[in-house]
Amino acid sequence: MIGSKVAYFKSINELEAYCEQKIKDESHLVFIDNNVLCKFPTLGNSSMETIAIKVREEEKNIDTVSEIWKIMFEKSLERSSTIFSIGGGVVSDSVGFAASTYKRGTKLITIPTTLLSMVDAAHGGKNGINNEFGKNQIGTFMMPQEVLICPEFLSQLPEKEIKTGLIELIKAGFLGSPELVEKVYEVDVNNIDVSLISEAVDIKNNIVNNDFKESSERMFLNFGHTIGHLIEADSHHQISHGEAVAVGILKAMQISEKLCGLAPNVSAKFEQFLDNLQISTIYEFKKNSAHLKELLLNDKKVENSKVKYVLLKNIGEPVLIDYDIRDLLDEVING
Ligand SMILES: NC(=O)c1ccc[n+]([C@@H]2O[C@H](COP(=O)([O-])OP(=O)(O)OC[C@H]3O[C@@H](n4cnc5c(N)ncnc54)[C@H](O)[C@@H]3O)[C@@H](O)[C@H]2O)c1
Repeated sequence: MIGSKVAYFKSINELEAYCEQKIKDESHLVFIDNNVLCKFPTLGNSSMETIAIKVREEEKNIDTVSEIWKIMFEKSLERSSTIFSIGGGVVSDSVGFAASTYKRGTKLITIPTTLLSMVDAAHGGKNGINNEFGKNQIGTFMMPQEVLICPEFLSQLPEKEIKTGLIELIKAGFLGSPELVEKVYEVDVNNIDVSLISEAVDIKNNIVNNDFKESSERMFLNFGHTIGHLIEADSHHQISHGEAVAVGILKAMQISEKLCGLAPNVSAKFEQFLDNLQISTIYEFKKNSAHLKELLLNDKKVENSKVKYVLLKNIGEPVLIDYDIRDLLDEVING
C-alpha cells in the first residue's frame, strides 16, 4: 500500500495555483461542496473544470454516487484522469467512492474543508456510503494520491463543526501523543494551528500504514466511536457525530479505568474540556437494550456477540479487547 502525499498550504490562492500547475491540460474534474463554493466563490473561477455538488449526510448513498458517475461518463473521463474532491467528509466519501469504482479506479486528490476531514476523513483511503442498514455499510479502500490541506477553509466553518473536528483531533492525541492532547486542551477554537492538524494526520497515517485493511491496529481509530455511533442512531442523529463520539470517548475512558488501570485524572481532564466547549458529557439512551443490541450487531466490528472495543492503558497506549456486547450494553445503560 502506498500512502498519500500530504501537503499544507497557507492560502487558498496558493492551493489553487498548485492544482492548476499540476493538471496543466491533463484530463481532470473537480467536485466541490456547494456550500464551500458559496463561501469561497473564487474557487469557481479557476481554470480547472469544476462542478458544484450538494450532498448532505442523508444523501451520502448510491443515488448520489450514480449522479457523480453519470457526470464522469458525460465528461468522458478516463481511468488516468484526476478527480478532485473539495469539501468535508460527506463529499470526500461520496466522490472518493465514485472515483474508486469508476473504470476500476481513477486518480484522486482530496482537499478537505472541515476540521474533521482535515484530520480524519480525507486520509486513509476509506470511502464509505450509507444504505438502509446503516452508516458507511458500503465502501471501498482506495488511497487518494494527495491530500491538500489549507486551514483558510476553517475561517468560514461554523463553530459546531470546529468542535466536532476537535473531538477527532484530540482522539488522535489519545491514541498517539500526550503532547498533542495537552495542546488541544489549550486550543483557540477561532485559530486552529496547522501544527495540531499535521500531528493528528501523522498519527492517523502511521496507524493506517501498518494496517490498511483494518485487521487490527487500524481499529484503534474507532476509539469512542462504538458508543458514539450507538448514540447517533439512538438519537436519530439529533446528537451530532462529534458530541456522540465525545460521550463515547468519556465512557471508554471510564471503562478503561476499571479494566486497564487508566488514571482517573485522564477522564476528569477530558470531561472539563468538554464542559468548556459546552459539549454534554452524558447521554440517556431512549431505546431498550434489545433494540440497542440490534443496532450494535450492525457494527462492522462485531463478531460472535463480541465487539472489538478500544480502551486506553494510558494516553498513547490504546488496547483492543473483545468485549461482550451484553457487558457493553450494561455499561452504557446502567454504568
Ligand atoms: N472515510 C473516512 O475515513 C471517514 C472518517 C471520518 C468521517 N467520515 C465521514 O465524514 C462525514 C462527516 O464529515 P464532516 O464532518 O466533514 O461533515 P460534512 O462534510 O457534512 O460538512 C459539514 C458541513 O459543513 C459544510 N462545510 C464544509 N466545509 C466548509 C467550510 N470550509 N466552510 C463552511 N462550511 C463548510 C458542509 O457543506 C456541511 O454542511 C461522515 O459522513 C463520516 O461518515 C469518513
